[in-house]
Order: sequence, then structure tokens, then C-alpha cells
Amino acid sequence: MRPFIERLPKAELHVHLEGTLEPELSFELARKNGITLPFDTPEALVEAYDFHDLPSFLTIYYAGMSVLVDEDDFYRLTWDYLAKAASQNIVYAELFFDPQAHTARGVAFETVITGIRRAQQDAAQRLGVETQLILCFLRDMSAESAMEHLEMARPYLDWLVGVGLDSDEKDNPPTKFAAVFARAREMGLKLTMHCDVNQTDTLANIGQVLDDIGVDRIDHGVNSLQSDALWQEIARRRLGLTVCPVSNRFVVQSLTSAEIRDMLDKDMLVTINSDDPAYFRAYLNENFVALQEEGGFTADEIVTLVANGFEAAWLPDARKSEYRDLLDKAAAGRVDA
Ligand code: HPA
Ligand code: ZN
Repeated sequence: MRPFIERLPKAELHVHLEGTLEPELSFELARKNGITLPFDTPEALVEAYDFHDLPSFLTIYYAGMSVLVDEDDFYRLTWDYLAKAASQNIVYAELFFDPQAHTARGVAFETVITGIRRAQQDAAQRLGVETQLILCFLRDMSAESAMEHLEMARPYLDWLVGVGLDSDEKDNPPTKFAAVFARAREMGLKLTMHCDVNQTDTLANIGQVLDDIGVDRIDHGVNSLQSDALWQEIARRRLGLTVCPVSNRFVVQSLTSAEIRDMLDKDMLVTINSDDPAYFRAYLNENFVALQEEGGFTADEIVTLVANGFEAAWLPDARKSEYRDLLDKAAAGRVDA
């Protein structure tokens, strides 16, 4: 199945750019920016990755960002991910970024978004990878800070497709950001929010993203299966769920293959994604391969999961159809996409 998975043209809808920072690049940028890392080698840095829940991951994830300083650093981060994506036959990606994690360190919003944008344009031209950008708010920061950053983004609205919500979910429910997301909607942006796996109050939070926020998609959202009312509403609205198997394994010791199969059986729009591939040491193909092995998915089921990624994308229907045709041809072995 690995060669089959590798050759399929794929979409990735849940990947944090800051989560694609490879240890080797950390060291290179640290050297360039005169920053001393508390490790001697990239291998030692990886050995210190000790994730067992969301907070333990986030501590290491935010510390890692200190090496991202100037516009070229954000360009390089984005370019390296997109080159990797191209090598995995990812033809379309929606990219999260966390501006508050950078402005809090004195890096200007403009520096961050301009570097990312340049790499997106170069990747479209030189690698043939189409991308759109999603601004994520950090839910453990205030709603006022989120609103300020939404306003900072106003001059760059054409560079954004949507807004998201990430970081520590505990005691930071979706409704904390209701006004921010309502304004983002007025600005013409799509809305998504993380509902991470096995969080305190997860069912209440999933209910809020449906009823109070009116999201266009849900990131993770696996726990919705525990409530008939929630999963039925998600299925009825045909909302995409961006599930991240290897990321989940750090929290629930499984790739949630049983849950993903259950979602397919319930005709939910479940998609497969990598989340923070440099930290979890698995890009999109590795997520699919591991998931297939754990869950015994058939080739047709894999194609459905990939097709769901295009259907749940924030693209015009005509563009989605083009990608779907490309996928069907590759799956049938008619073209090497
Ligand atoms: N959940 C919450 N915050 C995050 C994640 C995630 O999966 N990845 C990066 N920040
Ligand atoms: Zn995420």
C-alpha cells in the first residue's frame, strides 16, 4: 500500500507551519541568528521530544520557535515544508500559522506573513503546490489579543482564506472567541477551530463550535463520536474533520483508526493530516501508511479519505472537481500524478 499511497495526489488541511520546523533547520537558523540552543545536536533535540498530552507538546513547540526571527526565516520554514509536501505528492495545502507566538517575541506580524507569502508564491510557480493560509489564534491568550491580531491582518486579507483556534484548550472554550470569529466571518474569512482529542469539556466545546460559532470545519473532533447528537449534526452539515493520526497517538496511544473507520461508516467527511510533522516525525504519507497498517484500510477506503481532503478544502467547486479527477486517474494507475 505504501507505493499506492505515495503516488496519490493529496490535500493537507491541518498542518501548523511552526510544527514543520525540522531540528536541522532549527540549528541552522539558530547559528545564523546568534541564538544558543540548549542542545548540542539536532539528534539531541529530537531525543528531548517527550509528548504525552497537549500541554507537554505545546511547551516544546513554542520554545522551538525562538529561532524564527526575520522574513527569510519564515520564507525558509514555509519553503522547506512545501518542498517536502511536493515530494509527497501533496498538490494542495491549507497552512496554519500562529502570529501571536511571534509578535509576543517582538517579531512583527508583517515580517511573518510576508515571508510565508513569498514562499507560497514560489512554491506555486516552481513546485506546482497550491496553498492557502489560515491565521490561528492562541486560545490561551486573551480575546482582546486575538481581536488585535485579526485587525493586524486586515491589510493582508487577500492572503488569508480563514481563521483557526489552537493551543491549550483547557479552560479556553470556543465562546471565549465568539466576537473575534463573528468579525472574521464579516471579513469574508472561513472559520475552523481545534477540538483536540480527549480534552476536558470536549463535548461541550464541540457543541459550541457547531451552535455558537458556526464553524466551516473542525480540527480533530474525534470525540464527537461519543455523542449521537454531535456526530449526526456534523454529518448532516457535511463538515470536514481534520484528523491527525500520529499526533493523536501521543495522547491516546492509538492512531484512532477505529474512530476513523467509524466516521467513514457514518458517512462523515473525515480527512487525514499531519498536524506538526517535524515534531511527531511523520509527514502526510507516513500518517496514511501507519493508519492503513493499524486499521487495515482498503485501497478504496484510502482513496475516499484522500478525496475527502479535496472535498473539505476551501476551494471553488470547479477546482475541487479538477483535483478529484486527478486523484481518480492516479488511483486507477492511469497517470503518475
Ligand atoms: N492542537 C493545539 N494546538 C496546536 C496544535 C494542536 O494540534 N498544533 C500546534 N498547536
Ligand atoms: Zn493542530
